[in-house]
Amino acid sequence: MIDIHTHIIPEVDDGSGSFTESLNMLKIAENDGIKTMVATPHIFSSAGKMKEIEKFRNIFSDFRERVINSGSSVEIISGGEVYFTTGLSEKLKKFRDIITINGGDYFLLEFPPGFIFPGSDKFIFNILNEGFIPIICHPERNIVIQQNPGILYGFMMTGALSQLDAGSFRGDFGSDASATAYKLLKLNMVHMIASDCHNEDKRIPGLSFIYEKLSGFEKEKIDMFLKDIPDAIIGNRAVPDIGIIENPNVKRSIFQIFKKQK
Ligand SMILES: [Fe+2]
Repeated sequence: MIDIHTHIIPEVDDGSGSFTESLNMLKIAENDGIKTMVATPHIFSSAGKMKEIEKFRNIFSDFRERVINSGSSVEIISGGEVYFTTGLSEKLKKFRDIITINGGDYFLLEFPPGFIFPGSDKFIFNILNEGFIPIICHPERNIVIQQNPGILYGFMMTGALSQLDAGSFRGDFGSDASATAYKLLKLNMVHMIASDCHNEDKRIPGLSFIYEKLSGFEKEKIDMFLKDIPDAIIGNRAVPDIGIIENPNVKRSIFQIFKKQK
C-alpha cells in the first residue's frame, strides 16, 4: 500500500516530534504493509513551523537519507499539504518541485475545517489550466462539505481529485465526518484513502484496517484507493478511471434506484 498523506518529517509541523518518533511511525507503517509514504508537511498553514519553503529541499533529502540509512523498507517520497491561501497559484509555480507530489503535477490542497472560501471553484479551474491537479484533502472533515457535498462534486467535475482520511471511517474525527466519509464513498466521490498520520500514539500510520472496515465494498475499488491511484500520482500519470461520480444534489428516481439495485 501507498500512504499519500503523512506528517512523517520531524519538527516541521504538528506531526512527528523527533526522528525517533518518525522511525517508530515507519515501523508501524511497515508492519501494516505500507511500502511507500509521501511526506506531506503542512505548507502555508499555521500548523506549519517552516516559513521558508526553500529549506524543505534539504530537510526532505536529509530525512530521506536518514530513513534509508536506518534500514527501514518504507520508501519516502516528497510532497506537501498545501493550505488554500492568497497568491497560491504563484507560490505553486515558484515551489513546484518542493510541494507537489514527487515534483509532478498533483498536490494536496487543504481547506480550513469550517470554510470553503468564495472563489475556490475558480481557483481550481485556473490551477488545472496551469497544469496542476489539486487533490482535496479530507473533504469529509470540512463542515461546509458535510452540509453540502455538492461543493466537492463541483470541484471533482472541474477535475480535482478527492482524498479521504482512513480514520474518518473509524470515527476518529466525529460522527459527522464519519457519516460524510461513507456518503462520499456511496456517491463514488473518493479517489484515495490515506492515513494523514501525525505521531506514534494518537494519529498513527495504518491503512490495512480499511479492507476490514469496508469489507462489504468491492476489493478492487479499495485497491485503487490504497495502491493504484496513489501509484499513478507518484508516477505523475493519469489516474485510473473510478467510474461515474454521482451528483449529491440530484434525487434519483425510483426507476434509477431500482435499476442500480439490480
Ligand atoms: Fe494532514
